[in-house]
Amino acid sequence: MNILWDADPTAIEKYRFALGNDTQALDSAAMVARVLHDNLGVQQVIIGPEVALDPACELAESARLDRPELGVILLRHRVDVTTLSQALRSGMREVVTADDHTALADALRRSRELTSKLVGHTAGGSGQEGNIITVFSAKGGVGKTTMSTNIGTYLARTGSKTLLVDLDLSFGDVAISLQLIPARSVFDAVGMSGHLDEQGLGSLVTTHEDSGLDVVCAPNDPSDADRIPVHVVTELLKVARKHYDYIIVDTPPSFTEQVLAACDISSALVLIATLDIPAVKNLRVAIDTLDMLGSPKDARIIVLNRADAKVGLRPEDVVTAIKTPIAVNIPSSMTVPASVNRGVPIVLDDPKGPVSVAIRELCDAHIRQRFGSPVNGFDTRQQRKGLFRGRR
Ligand SMILES: Nc1ncnc2c1ncn2[C@@H]1O[C@H](COP(=O)(O)OP(=O)(O)OP(=O)(O)O)[C@@H](O)[C@H]1O
Ligand SMILES: [Mg+2]
Repeated sequence: MNILWDADPTAIEKYRFALGNDTQALDSAAMVARVLHDNLGVQQVIIGPEVALDPACELAESARLDRPELGVILLRHRVDVTTLSQALRSGMREVVTADDHTALADALRRSRELTSKLVGHTAGGSGQEGNIITVFSAKGGVGKTTMSTNIGTYLARTGSKTLLVDLDLSFGDVAISLQLIPARSVFDAVGMSGHLDEQGLGSLVTTHEDSGLDVVCAPNDPSDADRIPVHVVTELLKVARKHYDYIIVDTPPSFTEQVLAACDISSALVLIATLDIPAVKNLRVAIDTLDMLGSPKDARIIVLNRADAKVGLRPEDVVTAIKTPIAVNIPSSMTVPASVNRGVPIVLDDPKGPVSVAIRELCDAHIRQRFGSPVNGFDTRQQRKGLFRGRR
């Protein structure tokens, strides 16, 4: 959780994209001190540009002694040498120009990584493992890649160490959607089978510079897909789980062996439907299959993409057909294909648009809230058992 200390009550909206939804706005030093005292889950304090430098530095100085893991970031309208040196001397981690939201998001990510290392709770730092979230639909073209790239981008951009794995092994288009030019792919994990470690995983990753999202791309050559054994995929995901907070898995439109393996060790499944009969029918079949495999119902997050399309089928009809509530409705918007064509995820390209707002809700209310922050010590023991408990 973050605190934004700023006298202006509307400031939180201004910085919302960089800060994410898990931020409490407070307007005085006394309130900040009280919340810090009461809530050990606070990881970052962002101090607004109107707060005077002296009280801001006092907070950083006392936090440095009492809570060295707390990140304090100062926003200023203009950053000069005097401010910078006083702030850094007091123990603040970064000083950022208030209107540079990209720099703020980057500073928060760095600060959060440092916090995670200091408290020893980072995924991989303490035996606490990250969460694998598989995005699936048995029908093509419903928005799996759109969702997985944007979920990954948003989680990474707002401070979680996140990996996106493209398991659409023959026709994966994560790389092209994010304009990545991967040197290596999931296929290169095959040669490391049995001894894949953090360094080996790191060598497969291409980083999306704008968000910090790490990506393991699908092979360039579709024929390599058949030469990637299931155990390699499982090994890759299990190693990734030790080093990332979240691993998002994009999938092809069918339950391949690799997809089933990913689902089995996932903490949650994002299942996507659209308002057309074949998509709803396929979702129903997918849910039945998951039921048969013993996958717990509460691990499913149903997303209705293009939920406002006027096509005669209503969201209520989908709920009736699949007998499962919809977690998030994502509207249809021309900005989505436009952002794909530009190679910029919609959450970065149009952060205030309705599609981005809905994707953020999916991430904040249905992913982050479900698993908590790793620094807060989330309990993943149940998920560790695998989704297909006792069936496979
Ligand atoms: N909410 C939306 N509004 C408008 N267009 C959308 C929306 N979501 C996805 N699209 C568009 O639909 C098309 C298919 O999306 P996407 O590639 O994400 O689907 P997919 O399920 O990954 O497909 P495949 O099964 O072929 O991998 C893309 O052109 C994408 O831009
Ligand atoms: Mg796809």
